[in-house]
Amino acid sequence: MRYLAVKPKLNTLTVCLTLALASMLAGCNDDDDDQQEETSSSPVKDAAYYQKMAKEAAGKMSIEEKLNMIMGPGMNMGNGEVQVTNLKNNVSGVAGYINGVKNEQLDIAAVKLADGPAGLRINSTRSGSSETYYATAWPIGSLLASSWDTKLVAQVGKAMGEEIKEYGVDFILAPGMNIQRNPLNGRNFEYYSEDPLLSGKIAAAMVDGVESNQVGTTIKHYVANNSETNRNAIDTLVSPRAMREIYLRGFQIAVEEAQPWAVMSSYNKLNGTYTNERRDLLTDILRNEWDFKGLVMSDWFAGTPELTAWKQFKAGNDLIEPGGELQALKASYDNGDISEADVTVNVEHILSQVFQSPSYNNYVPSNKPDLAQHRALARQAAAESMVLLKNDHQALPIAPRQKLASFGVSQIETIKGGTGSGQVNNESTVMLAEGLQQQYSVDESLIAFYRDYYAKNRVEHPGFIASIGTYFTCDDPALDASVVESAAQNNDAALITIGRIAGEGVDRTNTRGDYLLTENELNLIQTVSDAFHAAGKKVTVVLDVSAIVDTTEWADKVDAILLSYLPGQEAGNAITDVIAGNINPAGKLAQTIPQYYADVPSATTFPGKDTNGDGTPDEIAYNDDIYVGYRYYSTFNKPVAWPFGYGLSYTTFAYDGATVETNTLGNGAKGGITLSVSVTNTGSVAGKEAAQVYISAPEVKLQKPTLELKSFSKTESLQPGASQKLTFTIPAQTLASFDPQKNQWIVEPGSYQAWITPSSDVTGHEPVTFNVSEEIVVSNTTPGALALPAGVNAADFVTVNQ
Ligand code: BGC
Repeated sequence: MRYLAVKPKLNTLTVCLTLALASMLAGCNDDDDDQQEETSSSPVKDAAYYQKMAKEAAGKMSIEEKLNMIMGPGMNMGNGEVQVTNLKNNVSGVAGYINGVKNEQLDIAAVKLADGPAGLRINSTRSGSSETYYATAWPIGSLLASSWDTKLVAQVGKAMGEEIKEYGVDFILAPGMNIQRNPLNGRNFEYYSEDPLLSGKIAAAMVDGVESNQVGTTIKHYVANNSETNRNAIDTLVSPRAMREIYLRGFQIAVEEAQPWAVMSSYNKLNGTYTNERRDLLTDILRNEWDFKGLVMSDWFAGTPELTAWKQFKAGNDLIEPGGELQALKASYDNGDISEADVTVNVEHILSQVFQSPSYNNYVPSNKPDLAQHRALARQAAAESMVLLKNDHQALPIAPRQKLASFGVSQIETIKGGTGSGQVNNESTVMLAEGLQQQYSVDESLIAFYRDYYAKNRVEHPGFIASIGTYFTCDDPALDASVVESAAQNNDAALITIGRIAGEGVDRTNTRGDYLLTENELNLIQTVSDAFHAAGKKVTVVLDVSAIVDTTEWADKVDAILLSYLPGQEAGNAITDVIAGNINPAGKLAQTIPQYYADVPSATTFPGKDTNGDGTPDEIAYNDDIYVGYRYYSTFNKPVAWPFGYGLSYTTFAYDGATVETNTLGNGAKGGITLSVSVTNTGSVAGKEAAQVYISAPEVKLQKPTLELKSFSKTESLQPGASQKLTFTIPAQTLASFDPQKNQWIVEPGSYQAWITPSSDVTGHEPVTFNVSEEIVVSNTTPGALALPAGVNAADFVTVNQ
């Protein structure tokens, strides 16, 4: 019997029912409807079905088989040095496995786990095969999230999932969804946003898209893993309220709305204890409060599994990856640290997902995903999601076939993605110079100069994870003024590309060549701007960067700035499509760009404090508490370079008729509000607009950020003059704040203001208002969960209010 079945949309159903009961919310969103339709021909088997199956199977396993299932077999990057139990088909380059079982009653295939957030990371060749196994390198997470477009993200997820399935993998170790607390986190490129609602909704869309192929996702890294320095041991000190409202909230949304097959616990400690040993995080909150049905796995070699694997299992971390500590685990079992009943719980969680996997269901992968279609989608998704920060005097778009002078080494080695486990082995990447050459009359002498310079000056760096390979960088050279001068005479416009790579295991720094531009880059911007402006021509900067960089030092010198982030394998084509106006950029910042790094509320505590004097930070106190990103800048009136939610288009939009359609908060926890606005394209080209709802809530018992994003929605592509009504449903749970004294989510009484705006800069916009007559307790949470270490109070380290 085959048990292949679609993931039941339990939460969609629950949400719809709740909404219907409350008789006020407009219904479930289109994304869900689309996916329901696409998969409705498959038999729907719910979580209870697989749980029952898992229970029965666990009853037929010996304790040895159970221990062998919860402990991964060890590291194997496709070179066969570890033994995987009942592995039926290997895939070269996967990151890990879950051992299977083969006994008289059971034949459960081992399943394969592969990275990662920007696409499937497997080896592109396999020994004994002349075929290639290239995957698509998609735009990085930060760029996809800048789309604010859950439909687009689900489409990308669906295509990514097809590659996972057709290349024979069962689970992808993605999406990454940690909060971008500080711009210097080296892994920000894998993550979505500084805001938990946006992170959660984008992650849920990605999970739904990937899992519509009946393969699993693994949302990671759970939780409070917002820096890379000393990542395996750092102790993260966070108040329970900040945990609930900022760091857990996105995971909660993804779990409740999309039920991913797996969650990966993180490397760090939280308030003194490794996250993978915390029962409050893994069982009380994740399973009991949020009703998570999947499995939890550790991050690779996280914690001290050689000593205390049993603690992870008892806490609710069901699987240790990559594993290999079976003897230690057996010893813990033998001496009674962990019982068979404990282990059986882990096994059942694992099996309930394994039974849905392609390997278990003997799916024969074609090894032929539709790479051509995915290439086209990667190009479109990247281009649409880019953020146009500045566009004075309509510097962009630049009409195709014009003469373009393109400066910067990053046009030669355009960075497609970050390094480490988020890397993808794709067939080829389109460099910006190549993309421009397709659509413009490019100054070939400049391209030849940069090509030659790059070839001679690039520097190879070992990757943080050696087996994932090396990467190259090349600093921009100082250019001769005469070169720039003649380029200004011979071309119609200038483009300058600034590149920054980043990767796993290392944080970025607020130094030249990293967050700050180098002297050569600054000089280039200055001399090119001077020469081209003197000739009456415009200058555009493209930021091919893993994460935000400083713009304050140079933004006023140029006419246009396009934040392309790392666009994936179609980088050069996607950037050129935006420059040429083939695609109207519709991205908006998912992260604030501050005026100065020093303005970032966590600048004083990042990347942590060395408390034991060994020269390495070992503790990072989240001094900014709930005031992360725009929550801080808007509350404490800090000017920023570019606000959260901001992004220009080649057209303009008007917002009219903002209104509160319904307010059923009188119904308590099941109530909510519905708002709407009409968005009209008032410009001259078609475009899409992401509208955002920011709420200012009254402060009764709890202080609150001045503004919090509570909903967003994106229009379809609107022709000039066309309008679309957008409706925003905000349930009480989304409106609520966390009261740490009572361990409750509450909506406080009073008058609320809601701004429906193009960005978090609400200045000059009029809010609509609504009232809450009495406090609503939305839910009670686990008493004592997330407690700070004995003797530590949030007031000891939260400095942001001062
Ligand atoms: C990373 C994970 C990744 C795993 C497997 C770890 O180092 O933190 O994100 O999925 O390796 O490659």
